[in-house]
Amino acid sequence: MASSTLAKKLPVRGKRLPPGPKGWPVVGMALHLRRDPLAGIRQIARDYGDITRFHVLTRERILLNNPEAINQVLVMQQNKFHKSELTRRITIRLLGQGLLISEGEFWRRQRRLAQPAFHRNRVNDYATTMLELANAHLGEWRDGETRNIGHEMTGLTLDIAVRTLFGTTLPGEAKKVGEAVTYLMRYSLRRQRAPFRTPETWPTPANLRANRELAFIASLVYRIISERQAAGDSAEHADLLALLMSAMDEDGTRMTPQQLHDETMTLFLAGHETTAQMLTWTWYALSQNPAVEARLHEELDRVLAGSPVEAADFARLPYLQAVMNEVLRVFPPVYIMAREVVEPCEIGGYDMPIGATIMFSQWLMHRDPRYFDDPETFRPERWLDGLADRLPAGVYFPFGDGPRRCIGQGFALLEAAIVIATVAQRFQLRLASGTKVIPEPLVTLRPRNGIDMTLHSRN
Ligand code: HEM
Repeated sequence: MASSTLAKKLPVRGKRLPPGPKGWPVVGMALHLRRDPLAGIRQIARDYGDITRFHVLTRERILLNNPEAINQVLVMQQNKFHKSELTRRITIRLLGQGLLISEGEFWRRQRRLAQPAFHRNRVNDYATTMLELANAHLGEWRDGETRNIGHEMTGLTLDIAVRTLFGTTLPGEAKKVGEAVTYLMRYSLRRQRAPFRTPETWPTPANLRANRELAFIASLVYRIISERQAAGDSAEHADLLALLMSAMDEDGTRMTPQQLHDETMTLFLAGHETTAQMLTWTWYALSQNPAVEARLHEELDRVLAGSPVEAADFARLPYLQAVMNEVLRVFPPVYIMAREVVEPCEIGGYDMPIGATIMFSQWLMHRDPRYFDDPETFRPERWLDGLADRLPAGVYFPFGDGPRRCIGQGFALLEAAIVIATVAQRFQLRLASGTKVIPEPLVTLRPRNGIDMTLHSRN
């Protein structure tokens, strides 16, 4: 039985429920959160404490603003929660039963099969491809020109995603894949934001185009899979799809073409947009903090001495790592997470009713003055003396935590480090005059309209 149906039937009277705002009749806190969701949840947490309860339309929400409670949901009692219905609703057409939204034994098997492809040694093999593509993009940049850095970073991470997933199998189609994925992302975002959604089956121009793009990507993925299966040569390819195709479970079974398709789409979408936003925020943060930028340049110039960066260099680039930690703290691409209660449980002394949506936010926790000095200030130095090891679990979680922690964390950090080092060795980026940067919390935290920046060659 769907847990949301259960929620309506179970009486909640007599239970210990968290305090929270009543909101307006019928819509609850919907309007309050719609205007400015980040400020909205911050105010609720400030007014009602670490565990609060409110309604958005018919849905019951519980906001956790306490590391111990967040750790209970992500790690200690994680089997009592599923991914939220909202996450599933937004992404299911694109991602099918991929890792991001599947559950239970099916998810466990898929994760087991996919995990070796993300082993550190495997991931490091992609460093050359990442560097090559970063250099190819930079080859088009000219001193003094202005570019939308959000679009630049999205284009680059998309190219990296296409090449690491499919290798060089897609010379003519890489651009079309990129355009299809970009359209589908925007289409999902528009639907998420719309106050009233028309059913996806209605033949509106947007729905028809989304169907065409989905069919295009599906046919491409299935074609590559069947060509490789027919030629029996998937082991000869060094891309993620080949690794997923050759992964075999203990019982000798492999992923079906449908599962390969869903996982490929999931890695594509989960991987490129988040990393693009992390990189975009990095250029913004560096441009606003010249002393940080100067220290990063000094480290890169001293350690790399003008040579291209390699995966083995990162241990000698602690300040670069601190910059990345700080970007993920202040501008977490995944700024909020949600779970749905599927088994009754107690968190922080309160009963969590079945069907309730539990939310917790990196944006809130990463800027909480109880855990970070001067939390609104971008200061990578804070990470240099082992802060990461001292923080209690549930305070800093840009990649989530527990069994469903991001499978691509190592991949993303390698990619970000290579792109940041390669760009910063050659260019200094400054906000173009008149550019206003407004964080916009959509599926990821992105700057509204990207960021126009002027490129200054460092040579
Ligand atoms: C800066 C970049 C990234 C950030 C901030 C990020 C963040 C996250 C977070 C917070 C989760 C957990 C979601 C939850 O528990 O509800 C997650 C899951 C996931 N991420 Fe990432 N991610 C990034 C890059 C990547 C990359 C590069 C890939 C793939 C190449 C990837 C693939 C996935 C997948 C497949 C999951 C689902 C894992 C599972 O449930 O088993 N991510 N990511």
